[in-house]
Amino acid sequence: MTQTTQGGPYPQTPATPDVINFGLGQPSPSLLPMAEVAAAATEQLVEAGPLLLQYGRGPGYEAFLEALAGFLTEGYGHAVRPDELAVTGGTSMALALVSQLLGGAGDRVLCGDPTYFLAHGIFATHRLAIEGVPVDDEGLDVDALEAKLAEGPVAFVYCIPTFQNPRGVCLSDARAARLIDLAERHDFIVVADEPYNLLHFGARPTCLMAHDHGRGRVLSLGSFSKILGPGLRLGWVHCAPPLRQRFLSHGAIRSGGCLNPLVARIVHGPMADGTLTRHVAGLREVLGRRAQRLSAALDGAGLPHHRPEGGYFTWVDLGEGADTTALLERAKDELGVGYCPGQRCAVDADLRRYLRLAFAFYDEAELARGVERLARVAELSPG
Ligand SMILES: Cc1ncc(COP(=O)(O)O)c(C=O)c1O
Repeated sequence: MTQTTQGGPYPQTPATPDVINFGLGQPSPSLLPMAEVAAAATEQLVEAGPLLLQYGRGPGYEAFLEALAGFLTEGYGHAVRPDELAVTGGTSMALALVSQLLGGAGDRVLCGDPTYFLAHGIFATHRLAIEGVPVDDEGLDVDALEAKLAEGPVAFVYCIPTFQNPRGVCLSDARAARLIDLAERHDFIVVADEPYNLLHFGARPTCLMAHDHGRGRVLSLGSFSKILGPGLRLGWVHCAPPLRQRFLSHGAIRSGGCLNPLVARIVHGPMADGTLTRHVAGLREVLGRRAQRLSAALDGAGLPHHRPEGGYFTWVDLGEGADTTALLERAKDELGVGYCPGQRCAVDADLRRYLRLAFAFYDEAELARGVERLARVAELSPG
């Protein structure tokens, strides 16, 4: 039943009018500001001249980094400096470079469990040995982390401190402070994957760099994918200058320079003139309403879940004995609803009873309709 529109306008998007696929962790087309990006791109292509097509300086050009620092300082409520930033081609690419820079084949990487499931693949490609550290309602369990650290050295610790993918939870301030202390004591870098920090529906969360205090233990990865458009393939690293130097020493950046200079030029204008800040404020409102609608529908259906306070996701518990992986095909074929099975996000844990729902791709009515279908998934026998 599931088809894809290969060659259509959204080649990565399953075109399934009959399936509501809660597995889609990307913005709905209505949330992509085409007119603003088209205007910014046209302005650059027409007015910037041939330098636009040249290699760029490794971290990105100074005016872009200044605009990004201003945007993040306002958004995070924490001072960010241009010399703490460098352009990336999105977080997936940055994770690949970081894996190469900080680790070698067979090295241990400690990773929140559950986690962003596609990060596994990046670490596995680099032959890193991934071990899970449980994530609960306050984020990464730092006691469990400490026990793992006692077993031997690690290449780095990977976590998603804010509106975690998939659980939607935030690392508490107390745990964040302890995480950085552990990093000092055991001499490792915390790779903080932070694409959802600016998408809070209520109180603003603290970015992990605010706990670093210049100690150079945090390498934060940001992305324009969830706040502007995933197809831009643009992001940034945010870390203390010596760590930034280490990142920029990667051979691919020394060879090719800035990882995505043309798109940085395009994004610069909307970021510097406040358009992006207004767009993000609009996203917070729309996503906040969608999250509320989804949560109310899940409550109505009697499905226990984490009440989302930001980001793209919530985490649902189908109860003891459920196997959401085994039920997925029948859920799509017979009920017209898809989701990300919990086990796909697992590192070491058994998470078969859980599933992840994304609320960024569908409008409120579609989300409510999807939950009506989801409520019947537990009644299915595995297909
Ligand atoms: C936690 C997390 N990291 C990274 C990514 C991918 O980021 P990018 O599009 O910048 O490669 C995602 C996308 O879902 C994500 O949720």
